[in-house]
Amino acid sequence: MLKHESIETNSGLLIVLTLIAIGIGGLVEIVPLHYIDSTIEDVKDPQTGLEMVRPYSPLELRGRDIYIREGCYTCHSQMIRPFRDEDLRYGHYSLAAESKYDHPFQWGSKRTGPDLARVGAKYSNAWHTQHLMAPRSVVPESIMPNYPWLMTTNLDYSDVADRMIALKKVGVPYTLTKDEYAGWTDDKGQKHPGTLERFGEQVANTLDINRAEDSLLAQAKAGNYDGDPSSISEMDALVAYLQVLGTMVDFSKFDEDYFIQFR
Ligand code: HEC
Repeated sequence: MLKHESIETNSGLLIVLTLIAIGIGGLVEIVPLHYIDSTIEDVKDPQTGLEMVRPYSPLELRGRDIYIREGCYTCHSQMIRPFRDEDLRYGHYSLAAESKYDHPFQWGSKRTGPDLARVGAKYSNAWHTQHLMAPRSVVPESIMPNYPWLMTTNLDYSDVADRMIALKKVGVPYTLTKDEYAGWTDDKGQKHPGTLERFGEQVANTLDINRAEDSLLAQAKAGNYDGDPSSISEMDALVAYLQVLGTMVDFSKFDEDYFIQFR
């Protein structure tokens, strides 16, 4: 019988057993990485063949930065677990694909407030603006803090292109070159589809880093998220972000069983 004391007093044996323990731990973490592609859902529009989950537009991206800066994640998760109660309350459970462009992801586990993974399109822009200014004016029993400065602070978007370049480095398909946008064929004749083919023209244009500021301004103007067209505030960006959460995948286009194969 191997006694604890005999292991601790025999450093050679202790090292060997430690390495075995670390080896098992390593395998448990590393092996699943080889299957990760088959666990991220392929979510393409059955009619058009376009990818439904897209990277955030420049305006939504800045909104997400504000969400992180303000610490919204300390009270809100963004992952609907595959349980019946969650499904009934929040909607379809979150897909892995839905957060594949999120760096860092906002899954979380702290739910002082409700999960926000599918809050997009649930309320009007005006509701969100009012709620963020003064939560208790729309939900009297709320314990959420007021965020009135979002309305009066102009959005700084001077570095939005740099932020997209940083995300591009970790694999988010924002584009800088014409090839990345329109696709290209390498020396071996293998085709590499560009964002144009993957997401369609409208989306591909918002993913073009060269046009980041124009696209941000156009979306803020057309959306007028905070109801004040005279300036682009941090509120505009945050509401644009909240309104897209969980809306990219149109679940009505899929068979109920389709996503089960990835679980
Ligand atoms: C101290 C915890 C706390 C923080 C921090 C917080 N919230 Fe909340 N939030 C809540 C609570 C509690 C509710 C539920 C009551 C209500 O609707 O106000 C809520 C509700 C919401 C809702 C409505 C969700 C729904 O489905 O009805 C949204 C949207 C929201 N919060 C966004 C935010 C954003 C954006 C931030 C960061 C700027 C934030 N929250 C920060 C606690 C918090």
